Amino acid sequence: MATIGKDINKAKELLERGELVAIPTETVYGLAGNALESESVTKIFKVKERPEFDPLIVHVPDLDHAEKYTVSIPPIARQLASGFWPGPLTFLLQKRSIIPDLVTSGLDTVGIRCPDHPLTRELLHRLPFPLAAPSANPFGYVSPTTPAHVQDQLGEKIQYILDGGACNVGIESTIVGFEGNDVIVYRAGGLSIEAIERIAGKVQVQTHSVSNPKAPGQLKSHYAPRKKVIVGDIPTLIKQYPDAGVLSFSNDYRRLHQFILSSTSSIEEAARNLFTALRVLDKLPVTTIITEFVPNEGLGRAINDRLRRAAAEG
Ligand code: TXA
Ligand code: MG
Repeated sequence: MATIGKDINKAKELLERGELVAIPTETVYGLAGNALESESVTKIFKVKERPEFDPLIVHVPDLDHAEKYTVSIPPIARQLASGFWPGPLTFLLQKRSIIPDLVTSGLDTVGIRCPDHPLTRELLHRLPFPLAAPSANPFGYVSPTTPAHVQDQLGEKIQYILDGGACNVGIESTIVGFEGNDVIVYRAGGLSIEAIERIAGKVQVQTHSVSNPKAPGQLKSHYAPRKKVIVGDIPTLIKQYPDAGVLSFSNDYRRLHQFILSSTSSIEEAARNLFTALRVLDKLPVTTIITEFVPNEGLGRAINDRLRRAAAEG
């Protein structure tokens, strides 16, 4: 079992020794290691059982540190950073050679972000290196949003979980890349596209698609519980699957096994609860989880994207 605690010094010492520590962010918990040391990065891929073709995000305390690891930062990225960093927004930028190729799976861009959580920001400020951190779950499974989620799945494999409480965004960061001054969204996430467009103007969205995904978070089946997930009209689906667990946006269907994401129809609250809900339903004695899309606006896009992937086969 890992120790769960709030000791930043302990986290720092372990990371400086090349060990991994689970860290809180506003989006989801990360499985962190020294991003400049290939040995630490190798441990991340092993513990997560993640294929090495799927690159990691590098976490920095501020934009000045991002400059140290990237060749150049386009003006539009600077504007977005000044609007939304620290926060749930990851940039894909040309990397410098100090970032090991293993981190980026051989790509010449690195995913970089400044997370918005006081403990992790303090940790990043004190460390002499940035942190590579994927979500702290086994590859393909639902991301963790509490220390207990991390303990449940990775507790035997790591020593320490830095306890920052429940994540208050609850869904992974939005990933964007740049072509000239154009912004391309590769993963819908915890920062809404509407918010990005208020600064950047119209953006391109390339979150589905392609056989050789630029952001392999685009893999079709991902973020998935073990139970079969079916998305549709819940009342219709209940007739077909009377014993299923029900995951609804705001309606109470009065089922034995159900989880309501937000009884007040708040998309933010639904995002915060989504991964806990999937984990809870995954543990209940049901074989199938039936659910519905939420309104496709704001964080609803990211929620619907995760539901679609949770429901994808294979
Ligand atoms: O909110 C988050 O982003 C969380 C917290 C811990 O920061 N991290 C996270 O990491 O979700 P991960 O590894 O679970 O998902 C990162 C996604 C992956 O799908 C990866 O393929 C993509 O980002 N990615 C990372 N670097 C990339 C790069 N250079 N080019 C394209 N995609 C990249
Ligand atoms: Mg992940």
